[in-house]
Amino acid sequence: MMIILKSSEEIRAMRRAGQLVARAHELVAEHVKPGITTGEIDRLVEDFLLDENAKPAFKGYHGYPATICASVNEVVVHGIPNDTPLEEGAILGVDIGAFVDGFCGDAAWTYPVGSVDEAAESLLAVGKEALFRGIEQARIGNRLSDISHAVQQWVESSGFSVVREFVGHGIGRSMHEAPQIPNFGVPGRGPRLKAGMTLALEPMVNAGRASVRVLSDNWTAVTVDQSLSAHFEHTIAVTEEGPVILTVL
Ligand code: MF3
Ligand code: CO
Repeated sequence: MMIILKSSEEIRAMRRAGQLVARAHELVAEHVKPGITTGEIDRLVEDFLLDENAKPAFKGYHGYPATICASVNEVVVHGIPNDTPLEEGAILGVDIGAFVDGFCGDAAWTYPVGSVDEAAESLLAVGKEALFRGIEQARIGNRLSDISHAVQQWVESSGFSVVREFVGHGIGRSMHEAPQIPNFGVPGRGPRLKAGMTLALEPMVNAGRASVRVLSDNWTAVTVDQSLSAHFEHTIAVTEEGPVILTVL
């Protein structure tokens, strides 16, 4: 599969999509607290995106039923929003994708619900840092697996594990383009990174073992050992000036 390089004009368009996704996350951050349901958060985000003339990227994708993915505690990714109120001390991963003027932005963040214990705090900190260590490797001349390796190295040396079954991805006019970007692997493998590559990096970090299974709804992925899991994702561009995060304001 070909990696589609974007011109600087196309990257500017992708930044507009990314910024809208970032604003949707700001909205989520304002509302995550004990008592709200993930279904309510989903409606807030959907109304926001539609008001801004954006198209939610997930709804209808292979039949996915909602605008956001809402993954509570041991849910790794692809949790479906529901009517259960969030409880103090939980962690909530929210993944949002949107098309603006034909380009896709995709970003996920894991939020604490109220105050959380030290174990959860530390998982969130390690997951966030894993994303930024991966982004740091998205430089011209590096190879793709340098990103993967940096993520795995950081997560495992912190005493946590990385999920193998789901990967990051190229992104552009489609939500998923080549290449796939695993969050584990030896360095120095895969294609060399070039200016104009646009990538969604999305490490999923488990407090316990790495293995996951998918529930009978065919979406919800959970840790087999029921340990907490955190997911952080940004859409980025590889440029002459280094990695540029597109899903920020
Ligand atoms: N960030 C995820 C991904 O890139 C979200 C997809 S959820 C789906 O695959 F429902 F659209 F599949
Ligand atoms: Co993604």
